[in-house]
Amino acid sequence: MNKPIRKAVLPVAGLGTRFLPATKAVPKEMLTVVDRPIIQYVVEEAKNAGIEHIVFVTGRNKYVIADHFDRAFELENTLQSRSKEEALDLLERIRPIAGSTSFTRQQAPLGLGHAIWCAREIIGNEPFAILLPDMIMKSEKGCLSQMVDVYNEHGGNVISVEAVPEDQTHKYGIVEVDGNPENHTFGITGMVEKPAPGTAPTNLYINGRYILQPDIFDLLEKQETGAGGEIQLTDAMLTLMGQQKFTGLRYEGATYDCGSKAGFLSANIAFALEDEKLAAELKPLLKELLN
Ligand code: G1P
Repeated sequence: MNKPIRKAVLPVAGLGTRFLPATKAVPKEMLTVVDRPIIQYVVEEAKNAGIEHIVFVTGRNKYVIADHFDRAFELENTLQSRSKEEALDLLERIRPIAGSTSFTRQQAPLGLGHAIWCAREIIGNEPFAILLPDMIMKSEKGCLSQMVDVYNEHGGNVISVEAVPEDQTHKYGIVEVDGNPENHTFGITGMVEKPAPGTAPTNLYINGRYILQPDIFDLLEKQETGAGGEIQLTDAMLTLMGQQKFTGLRYEGATYDCGSKAGFLSANIAFALEDEKLAAELKPLLKELLN
């Protein structure tokens, strides 16, 4: 029996320089897609996959993320006195139960691998998920839920991947596979972080969702810096691959890279068009703009 995936790490320490000046005082994870901050889409994906505890790895100026997932006493009191039941219900629904979130600080921007390592004591000795909040997903069944199914069948470590145009592979972690990459799942035999153009082993990129065994923490502790002079999660996973099974899942759904302006804007349009009322107002406006 595989140990259940109960905890998830969300690294949210990044500075968001690509979105300045919007992100000068507001964390990039709090930028809004339609009516919810980016981070909330990711927390909901984790909850829907059965995650019971979320570890946020934060940095300076990120305290509004903790506020967002806390009770807002003054606001809720006022809503109550004005009988705004719908708004109160909404706030109640998005609030994690007390004790089901933890916050720890990365202290220095040493890379994704280092950010994940900062969560080691809170995760402890059990397999866990990682969700990179730059990526928000839109799919019938959530990306992490699809991965939990694969984990329940295969155990070990599970990585979600998608195809990317060849000229984009240098921006991501790219996997090497054993088996047919067109299949729903396959073995992963290698991976490289941000390969130089023309050197990527495949066009399958890691789209920001991972299920890993806790053995990754010891490897991260000793991990030397890699691509971009940072401690890379991809490099530690490559070492773990020598000892444990890694299964790739070809994620079925859409991914929006909210780390880029175009990705963030298309997420806004895609999620807005999902809302029937909003779509009816927005479609004619979009048509007009495009003409
Ligand atoms: C990180 C990972 C990379 C992955 C990417 C997905 O890179 O290191 O392997 O493909 O996220 O967004 P970053 O975007 O932090 O440079």
